[in-house]
Amino acid sequence: MSIKTVGIIGAGTMGNGIAQACAVSGIDAVMLDINDAAVQKGVATISGSLDRLVKKEKMTAEQKAAAMARVRATTQMADMKGVDIVIEAATENLGLKLKILKDIEAAIGADTVIASNTSSISITQLAAATGRPDKFIGMHFFNPVPMMALVELIRGLQTSDETHAKVEALAKALGKSPITVKNNPGFVVNRILCPMINEAIFVFAEGLASAEEIDAGMKLGCNHPIGPLALADMIGLDTMLAVMNVFYEGFNDSKYRPAPLLKEMVAAGYLGRKGRGSGSLRLPKVLRKSSALAARRSRPAARDCRGRRAASRRSGAGLRGRAR
Ligand SMILES: NC(=O)c1ccc[n+]([C@@H]2O[C@H](COP(=O)([O-])OP(=O)(O)OC[C@H]3O[C@@H](n4cnc5c(N)ncnc54)[C@H](O)[C@@H]3O)[C@@H](O)[C@H]2O)c1
Repeated sequence: MSIKTVGIIGAGTMGNGIAQACAVSGIDAVMLDINDAAVQKGVATISGSLDRLVKKEKMTAEQKAAAMARVRATTQMADMKGVDIVIEAATENLGLKLKILKDIEAAIGADTVIASNTSSISITQLAAATGRPDKFIGMHFFNPVPMMALVELIRGLQTSDETHAKVEALAKALGKSPITVKNNPGFVVNRILCPMINEAIFVFAEGLASAEEIDAGMKLGCNHPIGPLALADMIGLDTMLAVMNVFYEGFNDSKYRPAPLLKEMVAAGYLGRKGRGSGSLRLPKVLRKSSALAARRSRPAARDCRGRRAASRRSGAGLRGRAR
Protein backbone atom coordinates (compact mmCIF):
# COMPACT_ATOMS: atom_id res chain seq x y z
CA MET A 1 0.00 0.00 0.00
CA SER A 2 1.54 3.31 -0.99
CA ILE A 3 1.50 6.11 1.56
CA LYS A 4 -0.74 9.00 0.58
CA THR A 5 -1.08 10.90 3.86
CA VAL A 6 1.42 11.35 6.67
CA GLY A 7 0.48 12.70 10.09
CA ILE A 8 3.22 14.74 11.79
CA ILE A 9 3.18 15.57 15.50
CA GLY A 10 5.13 18.77 16.15
CA ALA A 11 5.53 21.68 13.72
CA GLY A 12 8.95 22.77 14.97
CA THR A 13 12.34 22.53 13.26
CA MET A 14 11.98 18.87 12.32
CA GLY A 15 8.19 18.60 12.04
CA ASN A 16 7.82 21.39 9.48
CA GLY A 17 10.85 20.06 7.58
CA ILE A 18 9.26 16.60 7.39
CA ALA A 19 5.95 18.15 6.29
CA GLN A 20 7.78 20.10 3.56
CA ALA A 21 9.57 16.96 2.36
CA CYS A 22 6.21 15.16 2.15
CA ALA A 23 4.43 18.01 0.38
CA VAL A 24 7.07 18.49 -2.33
CA SER A 25 7.05 14.73 -2.91
CA GLY A 26 3.29 14.71 -3.59
CA ILE A 27 2.31 13.27 -0.20
CA ASP A 28 -0.34 14.98 1.95
CA ALA A 29 0.88 16.13 5.37
CA VAL A 30 -1.34 16.70 8.40
CA MET A 31 0.86 18.71 10.76
CA LEU A 32 -0.18 19.10 14.40
CA ASP A 33 1.13 21.29 17.20
CA ILE A 34 -0.13 22.43 20.59
CA ASN A 35 -1.68 25.70 19.47
CA ASP A 36 -2.45 27.76 16.39
CA ALA A 37 0.58 30.01 16.78
CA ALA A 38 2.97 27.02 16.83
CA VAL A 39 1.40 25.27 13.88
CA GLN A 40 1.11 28.46 11.82
CA LYS A 41 4.76 29.22 12.52
CA GLY A 42 5.55 25.80 11.03
CA VAL A 43 3.44 26.58 7.94
CA ALA A 44 5.16 29.97 7.54
CA THR A 45 8.56 28.29 7.75
CA ILE A 46 7.62 25.88 4.96
CA SER A 47 6.29 28.74 2.86
CA GLY A 48 9.48 30.76 3.36
CA SER A 49 11.64 27.77 2.54
CA LEU A 50 9.72 27.08 -0.68
CA ASP A 51 9.87 30.79 -1.59
CA ARG A 52 13.66 30.54 -1.50
CA LEU A 53 13.51 27.54 -3.86
CA VAL A 54 11.26 29.50 -6.24
CA LYS A 55 13.66 32.44 -6.12
CA LYS A 56 16.55 30.11 -7.00
CA GLU A 57 14.40 28.69 -9.83
CA LYS A 58 14.52 25.21 -8.32
CA MET A 59 10.72 25.20 -8.20
CA THR A 60 7.97 27.15 -9.95
CA ALA A 61 5.41 29.31 -8.12
CA GLU A 62 2.74 26.80 -9.22
CA GLN A 63 4.69 23.90 -7.74
CA LYS A 64 5.03 25.84 -4.51
CA ALA A 65 1.28 26.49 -4.39
CA ALA A 66 0.56 22.80 -5.05
CA ALA A 67 2.95 21.76 -2.24
CA MET A 68 1.43 24.24 0.23
CA ALA A 69 -2.04 22.91 -0.62
CA ARG A 70 -0.87 19.47 0.57
CA VAL A 71 -0.04 20.77 4.06
CA ARG A 72 -2.92 20.77 6.49
CA ALA A 73 -2.29 22.44 9.83
CA THR A 74 -4.19 21.32 12.90
CA THR A 75 -4.24 21.33 16.69
CA GLN A 76 -6.74 18.44 16.88
CA MET A 77 -5.42 14.90 17.31
CA ALA A 78 -8.72 13.59 15.86
CA ASP A 79 -7.47 14.88 12.47
CA MET A 80 -4.90 12.06 12.50
CA LYS A 81 -7.73 9.61 11.83
CA GLY A 82 -7.23 8.08 8.41
CA VAL A 83 -3.55 8.98 7.92
CA ASP A 84 -1.35 6.13 6.64
CA ILE A 85 1.47 6.72 9.12
CA VAL A 86 2.15 9.12 11.99
CA ILE A 87 5.62 10.58 12.53
CA GLU A 88 6.11 11.92 16.05
CA ALA A 89 8.49 14.92 15.97
CA ALA A 90 7.61 16.73 19.19
CA THR A 91 9.96 18.09 21.85
CA GLU A 92 12.61 15.61 23.08
CA ASN A 93 11.12 14.58 26.41
CA LEU A 94 10.25 11.01 27.37
CA GLY A 95 7.19 11.83 29.49
CA LEU A 96 5.80 14.10 26.78
CA LYS A 97 6.36 11.54 24.05
CA LEU A 98 4.67 8.78 26.09
CA LYS A 99 1.61 10.99 26.55
CA ILE A 100 1.55 11.92 22.86
CA LEU A 101 1.78 8.25 21.85
CA LYS A 102 -1.30 7.45 23.93
CA ASP A 103 -3.20 10.34 22.30
CA ILE A 104 -2.11 9.25 18.82
CA GLU A 105 -3.22 5.68 19.42
CA ALA A 106 -6.64 6.85 20.56
CA ALA A 107 -7.08 8.69 17.24
CA ILE A 108 -5.68 6.33 14.59
CA GLY A 109 -6.58 2.93 13.18
CA ALA A 110 -5.22 -0.27 14.75
CA ASP A 111 -2.95 -1.00 11.76
CA THR A 112 -1.43 2.46 11.38
CA VAL A 113 2.33 2.62 11.83
CA ILE A 114 3.83 5.12 14.27
CA ALA A 115 7.40 6.39 13.75
CA SER A 116 9.35 8.59 16.14
CA ASN A 117 11.98 11.11 15.07
CA THR A 118 13.60 11.04 18.53
CA SER A 119 17.37 11.62 18.59
CA SER A 120 18.10 9.80 21.80
CA ILE A 121 15.15 7.97 23.36
CA SER A 122 15.08 4.17 23.06
CA ILE A 123 12.77 3.02 20.27
CA THR A 124 12.29 -0.31 22.06
CA GLN A 125 11.12 1.57 25.17
CA LEU A 126 8.72 3.81 23.22
CA ALA A 127 7.39 0.83 21.26
CA ALA A 128 6.73 -1.09 24.50
CA ALA A 129 4.59 1.79 25.75
CA THR A 130 2.21 1.42 22.80
CA GLY A 131 -0.39 -1.22 22.06
CA ARG A 132 1.29 -1.88 18.68
CA PRO A 133 5.02 -2.42 19.39
CA ASP A 134 5.47 -4.30 16.09
CA LYS A 135 4.11 -1.28 14.20
CA PHE A 136 6.51 1.17 15.84
CA ILE A 137 9.87 2.29 14.44
CA GLY A 138 12.41 5.11 14.66
CA MET A 139 12.59 7.44 11.66
CA HIS A 140 15.49 9.77 12.41
CA PHE A 141 15.63 12.63 9.91
CA PHE A 142 18.56 15.05 9.79
CA ASN A 143 18.45 18.81 10.04
CA PRO A 144 17.57 20.64 7.79
CA VAL A 145 15.20 17.90 6.63
CA PRO A 146 14.57 19.23 3.08
CA MET A 147 18.34 19.33 2.41
CA MET A 148 19.68 16.25 4.16
CA ALA A 149 19.56 12.96 2.26
CA LEU A 150 19.88 10.61 5.21
CA VAL A 151 17.15 8.99 7.28
CA GLU A 152 18.15 6.45 9.92
CA LEU A 153 15.50 3.76 10.34
CA ILE A 154 15.81 2.36 13.83
CA ARG A 155 14.34 -1.03 14.50
CA GLY A 156 13.27 -1.65 18.08
CA LEU A 157 13.38 -5.24 19.28
CA GLN A 158 9.69 -5.54 18.41
CA THR A 159 9.58 -3.77 14.99
CA SER A 160 8.15 -6.08 12.30
CA ASP A 161 9.64 -6.53 8.84
CA GLU A 162 6.40 -5.20 7.37
CA THR A 163 6.65 -1.95 9.38
CA HIS A 164 10.27 -1.55 8.37
CA ALA A 165 9.46 -2.10 4.69
CA LYS A 166 6.63 0.43 4.81
CA VAL A 167 8.74 3.15 6.40
CA GLU A 168 11.69 2.42 4.14
CA ALA A 169 9.40 2.90 1.13
CA LEU A 170 8.20 6.21 2.58
CA ALA A 171 11.77 7.44 3.13
CA LYS A 172 12.58 6.62 -0.52
CA ALA A 173 9.36 8.30 -1.72
CA LEU A 174 10.60 11.44 0.08
CA GLY A 175 13.80 11.26 -1.97
CA LYS A 176 15.87 10.18 1.04
CA SER A 177 18.51 7.47 1.30
CA PRO A 178 17.62 5.40 4.37
CA ILE A 179 19.98 3.26 6.38
CA THR A 180 18.67 0.69 8.84
CA VAL A 181 20.19 0.44 12.30
CA LYS A 182 19.51 -1.35 15.57
CA ASN A 183 18.21 0.46 18.59
CA ASN A 184 21.11 1.81 20.66
CA PRO A 185 21.95 5.12 22.36
CA GLY A 186 22.64 7.64 19.59
CA PHE A 187 21.78 5.05 16.92
CA VAL A 188 24.69 5.14 14.42
CA VAL A 189 25.44 8.58 13.01
CA ASN A 190 25.37 10.53 16.28
CA ARG A 191 27.22 7.67 18.01
CA ILE A 192 30.14 8.31 15.67
CA LEU A 193 29.77 12.05 15.17
CA CYS A 194 29.29 13.30 18.74
CA PRO A 195 32.27 11.50 20.33
CA MET A 196 34.40 12.90 17.48
CA ILE A 197 33.25 16.45 18.29
CA ASN A 198 33.77 15.78 22.01
CA GLU A 199 37.30 14.55 21.25
CA ALA A 200 37.96 17.72 19.26
CA ILE A 201 37.08 19.71 22.39
CA PHE A 202 39.46 17.53 24.45
CA VAL A 203 42.20 18.13 21.84
CA PHE A 204 41.59 21.84 21.98
CA ALA A 205 41.56 21.94 25.79
CA GLU A 206 44.87 20.06 25.82
CA GLY A 207 46.29 22.91 23.74
CA LEU A 208 47.36 20.67 20.83
CA ALA A 209 46.17 23.19 18.24
CA SER A 210 44.03 26.28 17.93
CA ALA A 211 40.30 25.96 17.28
CA GLU A 212 40.81 27.17 13.72
CA GLU A 213 43.61 24.66 13.11
CA ILE A 214 41.55 21.78 14.48
CA ASP A 215 38.64 22.69 12.21
CA ALA A 216 40.95 23.23 9.21
CA GLY A 217 42.61 19.88 9.91
CA MET A 218 39.36 17.95 9.75
CA LYS A 219 38.11 19.88 6.72
CA LEU A 220 41.29 19.61 4.66
CA GLY A 221 42.53 16.27 5.94
CA CYS A 222 39.27 14.35 6.13
CA ASN A 223 37.17 16.26 3.61
CA HIS A 224 34.58 17.18 6.23
CA PRO A 225 32.48 20.12 4.98
CA ILE A 226 32.68 21.80 8.38
CA GLY A 227 35.12 21.50 11.27
CA PRO A 228 34.03 19.67 14.46
CA LEU A 229 34.20 22.78 16.66
CA ALA A 230 32.16 24.90 14.27
CA LEU A 231 29.69 22.00 14.04
CA ALA A 232 29.38 21.87 17.83
CA ASP A 233 28.60 25.58 17.66
CA MET A 234 25.77 24.86 15.18
CA ILE A 235 24.34 21.90 17.09
CA GLY A 236 24.41 23.78 20.39
CA LEU A 237 26.81 22.97 23.20
CA ASP A 238 23.96 22.11 25.59
CA THR A 239 22.65 19.56 23.08
CA MET A 240 26.15 18.16 22.62
CA LEU A 241 26.53 17.77 26.38
CA ALA A 242 23.11 16.12 26.69
CA VAL A 243 23.96 13.62 23.94
CA MET A 244 27.33 12.75 25.48
CA ASN A 245 25.61 12.21 28.81
CA VAL A 246 23.12 9.84 27.14
CA PHE A 247 26.08 7.81 25.80
CA TYR A 248 27.98 7.97 29.08
CA GLU A 249 25.00 6.74 31.09
CA GLY A 250 23.52 4.50 28.39
CA PHE A 251 26.71 2.50 27.83
CA ASN A 252 28.16 2.91 31.36
CA ASP A 253 31.46 3.51 29.64
CA SER A 254 33.95 6.24 30.59
CA LYS A 255 35.09 6.57 26.97
CA TYR A 256 31.97 8.69 26.41
CA ARG A 257 32.64 11.15 29.25
CA PRO A 258 31.90 14.70 28.13
CA ALA A 259 34.97 16.93 27.83
CA PRO A 260 35.31 19.03 31.03
CA LEU A 261 35.63 22.15 28.88
CA LEU A 262 32.27 21.33 27.22
CA LYS A 263 30.63 21.11 30.66
CA GLU A 264 32.27 24.33 31.77
CA MET A 265 31.18 26.22 28.68
CA VAL A 266 27.58 25.10 29.08
CA ALA A 267 27.72 26.14 32.76
CA ALA A 268 28.93 29.56 31.59
CA GLY A 269 25.98 29.89 29.21
CA TYR A 270 28.18 29.59 26.12
CA LEU A 271 25.93 27.44 23.95
CA GLY A 272 27.28 28.20 20.48
CA ARG A 273 25.27 30.12 17.91
CA LYS A 274 22.11 30.13 19.99
CA GLY A 275 24.01 31.19 23.14
CA ARG A 276 24.05 34.42 25.01
CA GLY A 277 24.81 37.54 23.08
CA SER A 278 25.20 37.61 19.34
CA GLY A 279 27.14 35.60 16.81
CA SER A 280 30.28 36.93 18.49
CA LEU A 281 30.00 33.93 20.78
CA ARG A 282 30.87 31.58 17.93
CA LEU A 283 32.62 28.55 19.34
CA PRO A 284 36.17 29.08 18.12
CA LYS A 285 36.17 32.55 19.63
CA VAL A 286 34.76 31.33 22.91
CA LEU A 287 37.20 28.46 22.91
CA ARG A 288 40.04 30.90 22.50
CA LYS A 289 38.88 32.49 25.74
CA SER A 290 38.61 29.12 27.42
CA SER A 291 41.98 28.16 26.01
CA ALA A 292 43.55 31.02 27.87
CA LEU A 293 41.86 29.77 31.00
CA ALA A 294 43.04 26.22 30.44
CA ALA A 295 46.55 27.46 29.70
CA ARG A 296 46.66 29.36 32.94
CA ARG A 297 45.77 26.23 34.84
CA SER A 298 48.08 23.74 33.21
CA ARG A 299 51.00 25.32 31.40
CA PRO A 300 54.45 26.57 32.42
CA ALA A 301 55.03 30.16 33.50
CA ALA A 302 55.78 31.88 30.17
CA ARG A 303 52.60 30.61 28.51
CA ASP A 304 50.74 31.06 31.75
CA CYS A 305 51.40 34.80 31.65
CA ARG A 306 50.30 35.09 28.03
CA GLY A 307 47.17 33.14 28.80
CA ARG A 308 46.30 35.30 31.78
CA ARG A 309 46.72 38.50 29.82
CA ALA A 310 44.59 37.14 26.98
CA ALA A 311 41.90 35.90 29.34
CA SER A 312 41.53 39.16 31.19
CA ARG A 313 41.59 41.19 27.99
CA ARG A 314 39.17 39.09 26.00
CA SER A 315 36.74 37.46 28.34
CA GLY A 316 36.49 39.80 31.30
CA ALA A 317 35.09 38.60 34.58
CA GLY A 318 32.19 36.51 33.18
CA LEU A 319 33.96 33.31 32.25
CA ARG A 320 36.62 33.54 34.94
CA GLY A 321 34.09 34.33 37.61
CA ARG A 322 31.84 31.44 36.66
CA ALA A 323 34.62 28.97 36.09
CA ARG A 324 35.77 28.98 39.66
N1 LIG B 1 16.77 19.66 15.77
C1 LIG B 1 17.48 18.67 15.27
O1 LIG B 1 18.58 18.88 14.71
C2 LIG B 1 16.95 17.26 15.34
C3 LIG B 1 17.49 16.28 14.47
C4 LIG B 1 16.98 14.99 14.48
C5 LIG B 1 15.95 14.67 15.38
N2 LIG B 1 15.46 15.62 16.22
C6 LIG B 1 14.36 15.24 17.12
O2 LIG B 1 13.14 15.73 16.57
C7 LIG B 1 12.22 16.02 17.62
C8 LIG B 1 11.77 17.46 17.49
O3 LIG B 1 12.89 18.29 17.59
P1 LIG B 1 12.87 19.79 17.01
O4 LIG B 1 14.29 20.19 16.88
O5 LIG B 1 11.95 19.89 15.83
O6 LIG B 1 12.21 20.57 18.24
P2 LIG B 1 11.43 21.95 18.20
O7 LIG B 1 11.51 22.48 19.58
O8 LIG B 1 11.89 22.80 17.08
O9 LIG B 1 9.91 21.51 17.88
C9 LIG B 1 9.18 20.71 18.74
C10 LIG B 1 7.72 21.04 18.55
O10 LIG B 1 6.94 20.10 19.29
C11 LIG B 1 5.81 20.79 19.73
N3 LIG B 1 5.13 20.09 20.79
C12 LIG B 1 5.43 20.05 22.12
N4 LIG B 1 4.52 19.31 22.77
C13 LIG B 1 3.62 18.89 21.84
C14 LIG B 1 2.42 18.13 21.91
N5 LIG B 1 1.96 17.66 23.05
N6 LIG B 1 1.76 17.90 20.76
C15 LIG B 1 2.21 18.40 19.59
N7 LIG B 1 3.32 19.13 19.46
C16 LIG B 1 4.02 19.39 20.58
C17 LIG B 1 6.38 22.15 20.18
O11 LIG B 1 5.34 23.11 20.32
C18 LIG B 1 7.34 22.44 19.04
O12 LIG B 1 6.74 23.18 18.01
C19 LIG B 1 12.95 15.69 18.92
O13 LIG B 1 12.61 14.39 19.31
C20 LIG B 1 14.41 15.78 18.53
O14 LIG B 1 15.24 14.98 19.34
C21 LIG B 1 15.93 16.91 16.21
